Amino acid sequence: MNKSVENRYVWLNGEILHLPDAKINVLSPTSQYGANVFEGIRCYWNDESKQLYAFRLDDHYKRLKNSIKMFRMEDRYSVDELKCGLIDVVKANEYKEDIAVRQTVFIDGFGTWSSRGPVSMFIAPIPKGRTLIKDDSGIRCCVSSWERISDRNFSPKIKVGANYINSRMAQMEAQESGYDSAIFMNNQGKIAEGPGSCLFMIRDNVLVTPPCTASVLDSITRATIIELAKNVLHVETVERDIDRTELYICDEAFLCGSAVEIVPIINIDGYKVGTGEVGAITKKIHDVYIAAVAGQLHEYAHWLTEIY
Ligand SMILES: Cc1ncc(COP(=O)(O)O)c(C=O)c1O
Repeated sequence: MNKSVENRYVWLNGEILHLPDAKINVLSPTSQYGANVFEGIRCYWNDESKQLYAFRLDDHYKRLKNSIKMFRMEDRYSVDELKCGLIDVVKANEYKEDIAVRQTVFIDGFGTWSSRGPVSMFIAPIPKGRTLIKDDSGIRCCVSSWERISDRNFSPKIKVGANYINSRMAQMEAQESGYDSAIFMNNQGKIAEGPGSCLFMIRDNVLVTPPCTASVLDSITRATIIELAKNVLHVETVERDIDRTELYICDEAFLCGSAVEIVPIINIDGYKVGTGEVGAITKKIHDVYIAAVAGQLHEYAHWLTEIY
């Protein structure tokens, strides 16, 4: 296993290289303007089956291809090539632990912010453990003074590097004010999502999350939770607009995403969420999510791709 950063391998345009040898042109539009689209894909190690499972690869590639299309970039690689690239580079690193794999398609060359190519790509696996939740280990959030980008300016549906300036502003503001993270409202004044995560609240045993049109990313974790809640926990989800003040009187709330998994929120704008401790439904959703991604729910084996 290659633990140190210098000994890691990455995939760059079809070649597997030592990380220090994988160079990116400083004059490229990705370097100057954040002209890249990307996916963060999680792979989970199952110690019983001695297998590493990549989670919902096809859904990530579908979204990556949609980002490439909307960003009007050259679509250089097929899904099969992307899948083989990911498997090859994870194997090269001999990872037998939980990892996150960054897959970034970027505008290379010497053009400008409006260039369509040349397109390059890297695939970089990075060790990343699970978020384990304890009874009171939720986070404190504020509703941000920054508005979430909308489909009329920077579409939140395109997972493009430059969009993350919006997330950065909200996250930094929250931390400067003593909170752990932020919750965005959209240009309609309704709750949208977190910086790099989607949001659910629970009111009267019903899961509620903003609709896909509320300036949110088409989140794979959001879709996963809706499905698992319905079919495994028998909890329905309602996709509807959420008012800011509803967050102050909800029973439970959490952020979710491939990177953060399920993060309970115990306080919003100084209002205690529910009892102020991690809620029972949130805990159940966390546990069933971790079971699904780690290959412990056989009915969801179709979400997993074996690496070894
Ligand atoms: C802005 C934003 N919203 C939501 C999410 C959650 O999406 P997913 O569940 O597909 O990781 C992410 C994570 O990539 C994100 O960056």
